Amino acid sequence: MNDVLKTIDKRVSLRKYKDTQITDEHKERIIKSAMRAPTAGNMMLYSIITVEDDKKKEKLSKSCDNQPFIKNAPLILIFLADMQRWYDYYKSCDVEKYCKDNDLEFRGPEVSDLLLASNDAIIAAQNAVIAAESLDIGSCYIGDIMENYEIHKEMFNLPDLVFPISMLCLGYYPEDSKRIIKPRFNKKYIVYNEEYKRLTNDEFKDMFSHLEKVIPDKNKFNAKNPGQFIYARKTGAEFSKEMVRSVNKALEKWDGKKL
Ligand SMILES: Cc1cc2nc3c(=O)[nH]c(=O)nc-3n(C[C@H](O)[C@H](O)[C@H](O)COP(=O)(O)O)c2cc1C
Repeated sequence: MNDVLKTIDKRVSLRKYKDTQITDEHKERIIKSAMRAPTAGNMMLYSIITVEDDKKKEKLSKSCDNQPFIKNAPLILIFLADMQRWYDYYKSCDVEKYCKDNDLEFRGPEVSDLLLASNDAIIAAQNAVIAAESLDIGSCYIGDIMENYEIHKEMFNLPDLVFPISMLCLGYYPEDSKRIIKPRFNKKYIVYNEEYKRLTNDEFKDMFSHLEKVIPDKNKFNAKNPGQFIYARKTGAEFSKEMVRSVNKALEKWDGKKL
């Protein structure tokens, strides 16, 4: 096994960090690696905000579904799906007039642009994760950055065509850190040959059998199987409702209307 594969295999989400700042050299290396990620049309449809200010971290630990460990991360990186820079540039280049003069349609930002920009941002984030891991810096994604759109918009001065799609908490592994490698589902339920395959009830039973054992019959969600348990904890949870609200609010700007 080469070092890259070893790094990928030993990575875990780290939520407890050594109380040491990340060196400037390592910070630069992580950001450089993020920027080396592939990007649609080499347009870099994303921006990155570095957060080291304690007050901001504290605020994020509340606005991102009350996760206290966030404020203890020495470095936070917020990955923004960003079409604002391009539309501002198009404006500075008189692209709308150019379109009119040349019989071309000038369209505003659509959901497809947001999805493409989100691809860019997340791919860059994952490069940062692997680079960090190779430097003994652990990380944890925070999906809840998609919640509380209005709060984050104000906190980071985000214009309308910028959406915070992903966030990373970063910090060195503490000396006593134990890496618990979490299992994944069996490959046969995730990777399909040539075409998609919907799973049968029996296949689901097998796929989730390792979780059946760890879910007690009587837990606080009154769930009888992993599906009920995970729905209650994730898809149907309060944070998820807030994510739906927040993303729908942000999407209002991505309707293709002229700016
Ligand atoms: C998109 C995304 C969002 C996540 N959001 C959170 C989060 O808000 N809080 C958290 O503690 N972990 C979060 N995680 C980490 C996952 O819980 C973790 O990756 C998963 O449990 C598997 O564990 P592992 O990364 O150690 O293999 C997130 C991961 C991803 C990819």
